[in-house]
Amino acid sequence: MPGPTLSLEAALNDMEARARARIEAAGGPEELEPVRVEVLGRKGALAQISRQMGQLAPEERGRIGKLLNAVKEGLEAALEARKASFDEQALAARLDAEWVDLTLPAPGPRSGSLHPITQIQTEIEDLFTSMGFAVLGGPEVETEYHNFDALNIPADHPARDMQDTFWLTDGNLLRTHTSPVQVRGMQRLGPPLRMIAPGRLFRNEEVDASHEHTFYQVEGMIVDREVSVAHLIYFMKSLLSHVFRREVTVRLRPGYFPFVEPGFELDIHCLICGGSGCPVCKQSGWVEQVGCGLVHPNVLRMSRIDPEEWNGFAFGLGLTRLAMMRYGIDDIRLLQSGDLRFLKQF
Ligand code: PHE
Repeated sequence: MPGPTLSLEAALNDMEARARARIEAAGGPEELEPVRVEVLGRKGALAQISRQMGQLAPEERGRIGKLLNAVKEGLEAALEARKASFDEQALAARLDAEWVDLTLPAPGPRSGSLHPITQIQTEIEDLFTSMGFAVLGGPEVETEYHNFDALNIPADHPARDMQDTFWLTDGNLLRTHTSPVQVRGMQRLGPPLRMIAPGRLFRNEEVDASHEHTFYQVEGMIVDREVSVAHLIYFMKSLLSHVFRREVTVRLRPGYFPFVEPGFELDIHCLICGGSGCPVCKQSGWVEQVGCGLVHPNVLRMSRIDPEEWNGFAFGLGLTRLAMMRYGIDDIRLLQSGDLRFLKQF
């Protein structure tokens, strides 16, 4: 007949089995605490069972007491182990989520970049200084004399209408080309002279994809003895192949500028559309890139250079258009937009 010994032992075993099952089934550490309280707590199942020990025969008390302790320690260990396994899982998940590859190069500070026009300007300056040219600057607010008169464009000359001028109320103007720096160079340095003058200029233009009121040119000039159109073509070809790093197709057309004679316009095959026609080349396949020619004797004379002894060539290159061709920029307005999404690409 099963005595109290057997029923207590059975109750213990049964309680232990159920507790272990609950510990095993726990979905997280928060589900372990109720098990601990209900089993090991002061009013828990183990405490209740141990309270019944008094009913046992003295010789059985020792055996059941040991069993009770073993069950208690076993369950404590099981709870501890289960909790540790939850901690381990949590750590593994965290390591997974927060994994960092320390061998990757650090991103470092984000640096700015030079504007595409500045980049090309610098390259042209490097090329021309290597060929013995001085790099000159001039004012953006110019006198009528430097911008027009000294360049053989007197007040009544129709060529004044070729460029829509922003006049200032004091009679000065925003320079409409970099050519006034020719005048300043000739007057300050005299012949023989090799100079370029990169800079900003202004024209009262209707703004669209290929026209801006503010853009950039590089002026170039040589005054020396027996300068010819062949020299001019040589320098133009050097310049363009330097900037585009390849042979580019160009064409030379007669062009009229009052300060050169003969005068030319040098066009470059449109690199945006490859010649098939686009807004930049106005559907013609060609982009006017350089105005150039041999310096008009009147221009030399007005800057106190004797045209019997000296002659020269001059060119005015559209730096803005050059940048557009080189980088495939199809809208001139982007260049002055200050839009970082655009500028970051260079
Ligand atoms: N100044 C002229 C322009 O802006 C370009 C040019 C410069 C032409 C020098 C001939 C010689 O259109």
